[in-house]
Amino acid sequence: MEAIVEWPEPVVRVQTLAGGDTIPDRYVKPPSERPDLTATKAGLAKGVPVIDFSSLAAGGATEAVRAACRDWGFFQLVNHGIGSAAAARRAWHDFFALPMEEKQRYANSPATFEGYGSRLGVTKGALLDWGDYFFLHLSPPSDHAKWPSSPPKLREKTEEYCGAVGKVIEQVKKAISAALGVEEGFMEAAFGAAGAAVRINYYPKCPQPELALGLSPHSDPGGLTVLLPDDHVKGLQVRHAGEWITVDPVLGGLIVNIGDQIQVLTNGKYQSVEHRVIVNAAVERLSIAYFHNPQDDLVITPANEFVTRAEPAKYKPMKYKDYKMQIRMRGPGGKSHVDLLTNT
Ligand code: OGA
Ligand code: NI
Repeated sequence: MEAIVEWPEPVVRVQTLAGGDTIPDRYVKPPSERPDLTATKAGLAKGVPVIDFSSLAAGGATEAVRAACRDWGFFQLVNHGIGSAAAARRAWHDFFALPMEEKQRYANSPATFEGYGSRLGVTKGALLDWGDYFFLHLSPPSDHAKWPSSPPKLREKTEEYCGAVGKVIEQVKKAISAALGVEEGFMEAAFGAAGAAVRINYYPKCPQPELALGLSPHSDPGGLTVLLPDDHVKGLQVRHAGEWITVDPVLGGLIVNIGDQIQVLTNGKYQSVEHRVIVNAAVERLSIAYFHNPQDDLVITPANEFVTRAEPAKYKPMKYKDYKMQIRMRGPGGKSHVDLLTNT
């Protein structure tokens, strides 16, 4: 697939639309895709797995990690000891509050998606999501990095937080290896010198939240995502047992998602979680998503440990760079991207 380096049409910042009484047609989802904001799946939401990091790091959460990865594809992680999250979040709130012309200096393009953006996917005329974002490649470091120069220390605070998340991920990978019943270094070896990126999602107030989504249904393409949810505004929904469940984040916790590459690696044993974001009319919402991915040139394939005569390899190998590019061009598509890798 040819990479596209320019947006197909002028980019509109969602933040500039937040003050209206209605939303433009481009943001109105078809009825079948609209969220049901009145639904309470409280019973199911209570089942959302919560794992204590100190227990995980001590090797004491194997069964909980196994059940969470197998049955949900994600879990909340509490007691992780990362003290730098609040400062990073505050710095990004300040960034999104800057005057528009200041933020526009960092406008992104679909060549790398780095910088200030307002859409995923490059299809001309496609329906859009109610959110702006800032995307940064952390590792390998990018030549085109677009770190904002304001607010002061934003980069330092973000890198400090992301460095701490990277350390937590090392432990989570060991715990997942244990849960899979393979040797401790299995995940580490499979991902090699992993890549990392961070996306700060900013969902402005939406005058008609029942018609829109902050982020359309998708699974994360890479390995593991660690999401720092907003500390007081809910918005993340996961699809579980066919239902959209609103996650009620534990204060101070993180959310760990299984991505498509783990689904491929484990030959479907642990499936990536489909999720989306709902918005609301009262308050904006900010989240920080840290993506732990294979390096661009790595090809993840179903590991021998999970391929048997009864269960042959379910997924076709694809270089991560090509997979990522395909998704970036198409935009969010539920679980259709990983379905495309599935052998029939
Ligand atoms: C993402 C994502 C969820 C959120 O950035 O991939 O799913 O709550 N974010 O913002
Ligand atoms: Ni996601």
